[in-house]
Amino acid sequence: MKLRTAFAAAALAAVAFGATAVVAQQDPIAARKAIMKSNGAAMGALVKMTKGESPFDLATAKKSFATFEEAAAKMPALYPADSKTGGDTSAAPKIWEDMADFKAKFVKFGEDAKAADASVKDLDTLKAAMGNLGKNCGGCHEVYRIKKS
Ligand code: HEC
Repeated sequence: MKLRTAFAAAALAAVAFGATAVVAQQDPIAARKAIMKSNGAAMGALVKMTKGESPFDLATAKKSFATFEEAAAKMPALYPADSKTGGDTSAAPKIWEDMADFKAKFVKFGEDAKAADASVKDLDTLKAAMGNLGKNCGGCHEVYRIKKS
């Protein structure tokens, strides 16, 4: 009986996972843009705190770090060879020329988000973590994202 329940749960999880994978496969450009938009919102919430525009809130900070970690995990799979153009993408062709480096940057991004999640306890530790975290965004965009005016 126990085994059956576990199996059913695993099957359900597989279905849920499969559904996400299908959506991503059908429209990887929309999927990756949506993920990056949530990165932008998550970063915005952190910046507001460091600027004193909103009070420090650990739960909000942790939510942002989780958003980054999830993005780092999901993004690399969203650049199949047939998604270089279309869908108003701002992905640079260099991504497909240097896929290994592009993916490595997401690994680093995920690690830095995890480290921030562990180190940030208050406003000071958030400020200390922001430099490293922010470098991931700009560092990748500079090379792998086409600037649109
Ligand atoms: C390893 C690479 C990488 C990292 C790290 C990264 N980005 Fe991006 N970002 C991209 C790429 C590539 C695009 C272009 C998306 C596309 O159209 O395929 C993008 C697009 C965006 C966009 C525009 C989305 C849209 O509407 O089209 C925003 C906003 C954004 N990133 C925010 C961030 C923030 C904030 C961070 C850091 C917390 C971050 N990104 C980290 C690669 C990265």
